[in-house]
Amino acid sequence: MGRKRWKKMARWAPAAAVAMLALSGCGFLQGRQSVLDPAGPVAQGQLGLIESSFWIMIEIFIVVSAVLVVALIRFRARPGQTELPPQVHGDNRLEFLWTIVPALLLALLAVGTVKQSFADAGSPLVPHSMLVQVTGHQFWWAFTYPSLGVVTANELHVPVGQKIELALTSADVLHSFWVPRLAGKTDLVPGKINYIWFQADKPGLYYGQCAEFCGTGHADMRLIVDAQTPAKFNQWVATMSHPVSTPTTALAKEGEKLFGTIGCSTCHTVGGTTFAGAVGPSLTDLTGRLMIASNTYPNTPKNLYNWVHDAPSMKPGVLMPSFSYLKAPQVKALVAFLESLK
Ligand code: CUA
Repeated sequence: MGRKRWKKMARWAPAAAVAMLALSGCGFLQGRQSVLDPAGPVAQGQLGLIESSFWIMIEIFIVVSAVLVVALIRFRARPGQTELPPQVHGDNRLEFLWTIVPALLLALLAVGTVKQSFADAGSPLVPHSMLVQVTGHQFWWAFTYPSLGVVTANELHVPVGQKIELALTSADVLHSFWVPRLAGKTDLVPGKINYIWFQADKPGLYYGQCAEFCGTGHADMRLIVDAQTPAKFNQWVATMSHPVSTPTTALAKEGEKLFGTIGCSTCHTVGGTTFAGAVGPSLTDLTGRLMIASNTYPNTPKNLYNWVHDAPSMKPGVLMPSFSYLKAPQVKALVAFLESLK
């Protein structure tokens, strides 16, 4: 390509950059983890705070730019001017002005922030709410519904239009609960319980992420909030309360036996069986989950096979050990058992 042509193309570079920013901006605004696309009252309130500080900053930018431009034009060096302009050292009026204005703006932001913080805190208990205990683990989420007797992992089911009170704590290190379209961020601290609340206005899947570095698997500590109609939510609760965990095929029965003998049951609970490990995520109604590995892979038999066979190769830092010493038929049997959990 000739030099001229390059020069011609370079002329379009700024416009192209702006267009690219605008296009990626669309995705950013409506992304599945965007605070700019709130889906409930808490996220809406937080967006209000972002917007008010944004506009305050825009106003500061305009005022400062305008003053700068006026100063540049009015006090520029003129042709033939040789002597220095009058030197000014200190101006009490100006000093006072640029101390008081930022102080007032900061006070304004502080009032909004403190107000919003108190409004979002569910320091127990938000009236008419449903309590869910959230426990962060390296690197997955445990959800317990004390009033329903339900325990699940990584997918938080909630009815739409219902205030959900979260009691957040950690089993090991610091984590942070963040579902940008609904609520957060709030830290999960070992030995302490933090309370927040949220509400999803419309049914749908809302994606979240651990927002506090907690170790190698931090980036894969994802979560999904599945906001359902009250009828669908009640159906889910009924399934979780009476899980069907009796395998019917010979292969699945073989898998159930293996689950108990090779050590899976020391970590995992399976509702409807005697398996009651509490170290790893509960596998009750595993077939009902969209994803595995704390929402890192779609819940397909193939992914489940690879996961059981050698989890560390799929998710760096995962605490589940590799079972690569198992023979293929044994892994198949385990997967058949897991696929029978309804
Ligand atoms: Cu848990 Cu980062």
